[in-house]
Amino acid sequence: MAVFVLDGQDGRRSRIEVARGLEGELESRVADYRDSGLFLLHDPELAALAGRLADRLRPRAVLAATGAESAKNLREVERLAGQLLAAGADRQALLLVLGGGALLDLGSFLAGTYFRGIACALLPTTLLAMVDAAVGGKSAVDLGPTKNVLGLFRQPDLVLADSDWLATLSDHHIRQGLAELIKMAAILDEEVFHHLEGVIDDLRGRDPDALEAAVVTGVRLKVEVVRDDEREAGRRIMLNYGHSLGHALETVSNYRVPHGDAVAIGMIGELEMVGLECARIEALLASAGLPIAVPAALRHHGRLWKAMTHDKKTRAGEVRVAVPERIGQGVIRVLRATDLERLR
Ligand SMILES: NC(=O)c1ccc[n+]([C@@H]2O[C@H](COP(=O)([O-])OP(=O)(O)OC[C@H]3O[C@@H](n4cnc5c(N)ncnc54)[C@H](O)[C@@H]3O)[C@@H](O)[C@H]2O)c1
Ligand SMILES: [Zn+2]
Repeated sequence: MAVFVLDGQDGRRSRIEVARGLEGELESRVADYRDSGLFLLHDPELAALAGRLADRLRPRAVLAATGAESAKNLREVERLAGQLLAAGADRQALLLVLGGGALLDLGSFLAGTYFRGIACALLPTTLLAMVDAAVGGKSAVDLGPTKNVLGLFRQPDLVLADSDWLATLSDHHIRQGLAELIKMAAILDEEVFHHLEGVIDDLRGRDPDALEAAVVTGVRLKVEVVRDDEREAGRRIMLNYGHSLGHALETVSNYRVPHGDAVAIGMIGELEMVGLECARIEALLASAGLPIAVPAALRHHGRLWKAMTHDKKTRAGEVRVAVPERIGQGVIRVLRATDLERLR
């Protein structure tokens, strides 16, 4: 069990709790909001879990929205806001959002804009959502094919992660979360990286204690970075390791390469592009079942570079990336188009 507190620049305070079996404690965690009205938004894929939570928490209304990326849009925000209004949700309401990162992004955007912002509790159910999407106060919806165009920086009031919820998650989605966890360890913390090397098989085998410990560690690393730099002016760029090339691979493949796979390939590719290498990172990603090489079909340097320079974190003709010079030691380097030729 671990508790973290994160203060946003806007004065909003987030309380983040991680524990196996936290589900049994949820009533006490939302007790302060009971009189103002609880509203539960969930992914229909998680109907059984949502049903258990609804029995415990007795929300005024239960809303459903698919946890797919395709539902992260303004039409869904409008539909759900209409349901909240019809159910009598006022400015004092608490919206609980149960799902993966896509639904949390949608739900926290809804909570942040409904009557200019109501209280919000995030209940992440994927490994990626627990260690990444639920922590840090970023929310967004997509605009057509372009991801995360409309969004907010706004800390949720509560983040409650029960690592036992990961029991039903697919192997594929466990791997996607491991990619972000390995990324954070590789660029931020050698000790954590070393620990992951020892437990990677337990994590893939979903050992409940190993998963709980990994979520606690992932949340701690992300909280530490966000505490220093909530608005991405400085240190938060470290979390972008693997993502410049990774996003380009997602774009050029038309999102056929899943995000975690793209980040894993991006982590190794960005090291190669700046002339560094790291056998331990390659080995750990491979042990996690993640890919490490750019697929032959995506080796279009022109298209990859175009996608990399269209990323919002770029300046003309060059791309700034954060890469680990050594494990746990992030540095900023500048990439140019010709660096793509160094990809192995
Ligand atoms: N706000 C942020 O800071 C931030 C950070 C990283 C990612 N994100 C966003 O997160 C999204 C990706 O999140 P994700 O990786 O969690 O994927 P996801 O939200 O797409 O969920 C993956 C799938 O898993 C299913 N699922 C969720 N929990 C489950 C469980 N416990 N058991 C079985 N199935 C379950 C969902 O129905 C969905 O089909 C993207 O939209 C990305 O933009 C946001
Ligand atoms: Zn990512």
